Amino acid sequence: MSKEVIVVRGNNTLAGEVQASGAKNSALKLMAAALLGQGASVIRNVPDISDIAVMSEVLQRLGAVVDRDGHAMSVDTSNVDKFDTPYELVSKMRASISVLGPLIGRFGKAMVAMPGGCQIGARKIDMHLVGLESLGVEFEVDHGTLIASTPHGLHGANVTLEFPSVGATENMLMAAVVAEGDTVIENAAREPEIADLCEMLNSMGARIEGHGSSSIRVEGVPLGDMHPCEHTTVGDRVESGTFLVGGAVTGGPVTVRGITPDFLRMAIVKLQAMGCDVECGDDWITVSRSGPLKPADIQTLPHPGFPTDLQAQFMLLASLADGMSIITENVFENRFMFAAELMRLGADIALEDHHAFIRGVKGLEGAPVSSTDLRAGATLVLAGIVADGHTVVHDIHHIDRGYENYCEKLQALGADVERRAE
Ligand code: UD1
Repeated sequence: MSKEVIVVRGNNTLAGEVQASGAKNSALKLMAAALLGQGASVIRNVPDISDIAVMSEVLQRLGAVVDRDGHAMSVDTSNVDKFDTPYELVSKMRASISVLGPLIGRFGKAMVAMPGGCQIGARKIDMHLVGLESLGVEFEVDHGTLIASTPHGLHGANVTLEFPSVGATENMLMAAVVAEGDTVIENAAREPEIADLCEMLNSMGARIEGHGSSSIRVEGVPLGDMHPCEHTTVGDRVESGTFLVGGAVTGGPVTVRGITPDFLRMAIVKLQAMGCDVECGDDWITVSRSGPLKPADIQTLPHPGFPTDLQAQFMLLASLADGMSIITENVFENRFMFAAELMRLGADIALEDHHAFIRGVKGLEGAPVSSTDLRAGATLVLAGIVADGHTVVHDIHHIDRGYENYCEKLQALGADVERRAE
């Protein structure tokens, strides 16, 4: 397959309506959760993106039958008889480790390759392991593979996470639902995708309360009480936030439908602080701007704080604001690689440790740039839309990991963007 680039013609405005896809970070875990209910679960509103294809491969390798019909996906786990996920899959997508919790729940054991370091920081899994160990799981590492066993069964426990890690909360939840006794996870992650996962687990027979708060209580049920279910994935707040930034940076108005505005509370506060008008309904958000962009101070934090997955997009806004903005990255180390690409387009950014100091410039100029990760890639396309001249965005396989039909959606908003062979 030849590599592709996205060619963007600039000096453009985005305006109109766009439908949010289902949340990538939810759907991946909902697919893993299906392992706990023997039979065919149906998950709706699943985005058609390459990360979902990798999770389908992970499940198929375990023996599941995965079928897609548009955005509906059936995951039949009746004949799952394997419990290992090899490095070739974990190295393609780190979120493959989300099968660890449900495999332990289903088989009492699992073998999952250790994820390597990741471009956006060390991304350790120590909290996943500490959390699962408190439920009775024992781990060994053999030639890069994590081997989990439960010689004394799975039992409930009270656990306080050191940091509200999304992945650790999810892996613990998917084992705790079938542990003997009750589990309480304190300092649990509060991301909307966690609540979505708990809703699905509850429709499969689990007994979880408090999801959406930092204290989640689980009353363990026997594995045999878990059954398949039908569930609809929540809208993708990061994809939605990306289109809202597209509206904000070009003036808009851009309306995103299929998204719960509350999921984007802090991003909306920052859009308003930066001079945008934002209107919300039950499941839509509209952004527009008539005055200049104002600078802002933004710190990424676990939900409901400002999401790290919108940091690059807001760096683009800040780079065109009237004054100096400061962005502080608190969730991942090393998540400023994007800044160098934005500087190629003329942005004025100084990095110091986990702070970025962004002095707004009058305009950006088109140039060849590379996607350093999926959010950076999507943002570089937006930067190209507002820049003067042509921008060519390379390494767009990153964008395909998390954005369904990104070019088509942008074209419908009036962008002049096109995929081409490199
Ligand atoms: C998920 C999201 C990702 C998002 C992130 C934070 C998916 C597939 N990905 O990633 O898009 O940016 O939440 O909202 O859902 N950490 C440890 N030890 C651990 C676990 C985490 O040190 O055991 C650290 C990580 O290195 C990172 C921070 O905690 O610096 C946050 O990680 P976590 O919340 O676990 O994010 P992910 O689940 O990997």
